[in-house]
Parts: sequence; C-alpha cells; structure tokens
Amino acid sequence: MTSAAPEGGQRRLRAGVIGLGWAGQQHVAAYAADPAVDLVAISAMEEHLLARFGDEHEVPGRYRDWQQMLDEAELDLVSIATPTFLHAPMATAALEAGLHVLTEKPMAETGEAAAGMVDAARRAGRVLDVSFNHRQRGDVTALRAVVDSGVLGKLYYAKAGWIRRQGIPGLGTWFTKAASSGGGAMMDIGIHMLDMALHLLDEPEVTAASASTHAEFGPLGRGGSGFGISQVEEGVPFEVEDLATAFLRLDGGGTLLLESSWAQWIPHDLCYVTLYGADGGATIEWGGAPGSDRITVWTEVAGIPAELQPEVGEDGRHAGAVAQFLQKVRSEDWTPHDGSLALRRARVLDACYASARTGGEVRVGS
Ligand SMILES: NC(=O)c1ccc[n+]([C@@H]2O[C@H](COP(=O)([O-])OP(=O)(O)OC[C@H]3O[C@@H](n4cnc5c(N)ncnc54)[C@H](O)[C@@H]3O)[C@@H](O)[C@H]2O)c1
Repeated sequence: MTSAAPEGGQRRLRAGVIGLGWAGQQHVAAYAADPAVDLVAISAMEEHLLARFGDEHEVPGRYRDWQQMLDEAELDLVSIATPTFLHAPMATAALEAGLHVLTEKPMAETGEAAAGMVDAARRAGRVLDVSFNHRQRGDVTALRAVVDSGVLGKLYYAKAGWIRRQGIPGLGTWFTKAASSGGGAMMDIGIHMLDMALHLLDEPEVTAASASTHAEFGPLGRGGSGFGISQVEEGVPFEVEDLATAFLRLDGGGTLLLESSWAQWIPHDLCYVTLYGADGGATIEWGGAPGSDRITVWTEVAGIPAELQPEVGEDGRHAGAVAQFLQKVRSEDWTPHDGSLALRRARVLDACYASARTGGEVRVGS
C-alpha cells in the first residue's frame, strides 16, 4: 500500500484491475492510456486473459488470486470488474488495505452490501467510486447543460428506459443467478438509466417505489445474447427478472418512470431519457437502429414553440468514468467521495425489488 495524501496532485499512481471480462477490459484500457498512471497488476481466473492483457500493456503483476495481488502489488488504487456479489468483499478488503476503489456497476447485489462498502470507505478514509460510464455519453452531458441553463424550468416528471431486443447477458451464468447478480435487467442495465435520470434531474431523493418484475424469456431459454466471457454452468436456473417496471416518487413531488428489459418483442434496442419541465421538455434516445440517436429540446422562444437540437460532444465511456475517479483520488479531500451516491441507487433498487415481491409501494431506506 503506497497511498498518501496527494502532493500537488501529480504523483504517478499504481493501478490494478480485478476481472478481465468486457468491463474489466475497459478499465485496463483506460489506465493503460493514462500517462500519469502505471497499470502494475491485473487479476482474473482466465490465464489466457492475464497473458493477453498483461503482454499487451506490459503489466508486470498477473494474479489468479486477487488477495495476493492486494498484498503484493503495492497499489494505490484498484478497479473491481468481477461478478456483482464479489464487489463488496473485494472493495472492502482493498479499502482496508488503504487503496482507493473504483467498482463496476451495480455497486453491490443489495443495499446492505453497498452500505458496508461505504462504511469501509469512511473507516479507511479512501475514495470509493462506482463506474457509471453511460452518464459519460455526449448526449447526457449536452442534456445536463440544457437542464443547468434553466430553459426547461422546474422538472417534475421523467421517463427512462433500456429495452433490449435480445440481450440477456449469458443465460446460465452468474448474471442469471439471484445470489451472484442480485437481480436481472433492472440491476444490470436499469441501474444505468436510473443513474442517468437522477443525474439529469440534479439528484432528487427517491422516496418510494412501486415496481413489478417479470421473467417470460429467460426461463424458456429465450433472449440470450452470448455477450461477454462469463462461464456458462450446466443447470443454472434463471432466477432473476428479464423485465422490470418501476414508478418512483421523488422528493419535491416529482416522479420517475423506469423500465428495464433484457429481451422484448421490439424491432431493435431502445434507450431513452425524457424530461418534462414546466417550461420545456427534452429527450435523448439511442438504440440498435443505425442513425436512431437523437437529442431534442422543446420549448418556447419569444412565445414561439421551438424545437432545438443541442450539439453533442464525444462520448466519455469508461475512460471518462476512470478519469473522474482519478480526479477524485488526486483531489485535496477524499471524504466526499465515499460511494454514498451509488448507495442511494442501490437502496432504490432494494425498494423496487421489495415492491415487486409484496405488490405495494415501498419507502426507500436511508
Ligand atoms: N459499465 C458497464 O457498461 C458494464 C458492462 C458489462 C458489465 N459490467 C459490470 O461489470 C462486472 C463484470 O461484468 P463482466 O460482464 O465483465 O463479467 P464477466 O463474467 O465477463 O467477467 C468477470 C471477470 O471477473 C473475474 N473473476 C471472477 N471471480 C474472480 C475472482 N475470485 N478473482 C479474480 N477474478 C475473478 C473472471 O475471471 C472474469 O475475468 C459486473 O458487475 C457487471 O455488472 C458493467
């Protein structure tokens, strides 16, 4: 462990990555491309991926045992991109070893596990961050600028969703086992849309949730995407939802409708966030059909109805999420960066799943 309060913010940082599936590969690429970071260690179960990414980026430390990596590699920080149920134990161990931690979304399989991570970050006095890479999209940044300009007025309703045509990430893998994933489509992709919507709405508290979950594709072996490298195990039951809908109450009286689905009878994937304000509305939308991405703002200019298409910059992707994490690590004060914002998202999902189980509205825990 070599972490210390940053001096002038410029000391080179020693980074490690645990997990080399699609997500971990994005973190590896981001650290390897940062001239102020040394990617010194990687950990995964797959020897061939340790060799491939180790050789490609000249990473000296390659570990099948992540705990050994934490013990030996003298890291300042680590990214965790393993199956969701491993985020909490790995993050807690890394924080206790004095490392800053960037973990993949979802933060953990339950709000309770996520709360334990925040406690560990506070005890250790280190940065805990969660990679919400989709909020780094150029259209999200553009829409946030529209919101900040005040042109939409008071925002009181929003809709957000991610509906895939055929995108269950690995039938028969950890993704579809409740104990390892914590949930299905809402936990996996709905969390990105929840994060984006709350970010665009300027972080209102979600006070209550009413939700329902369904599994009409996975249990029949339909809707699989073959995405990623996850190990398929014989006989793994489909224990999570492939579609979830949620009605969320926000403090201040606003509401947010969230829909998430891994597989649906639609022509192509669809992702969207729509904001409804007193003085204007706006939507961003993207999906599988070429050229379908759009950002539109509807308002009035001098009493005349106006439709605007804001300019959209580059997508930040994982590199943007990693850069923001590094900025926090290099900041003067680590205490605000304790993962509590992501914990709030985890508690919203807890309330959604509880509501789906009980059939009633559930207060979001604090
Ligand atoms: N932000 C995004 O856009 C995005 C996209 C995909 C996945 N994810 C998230 O990233 C995480 C990983 O997803 P994935 O699709 O890359 O998974 P995956 O199953 O493809 O890869 C998991 C990796 O973790 C490693 N691993 C598992 N147990 C380990 C252990 N005990 N020690 C060391 N390594 C271990 C595996 O060897 C593998 O390399 C999940 O939480 C997922 O939700 C995020």
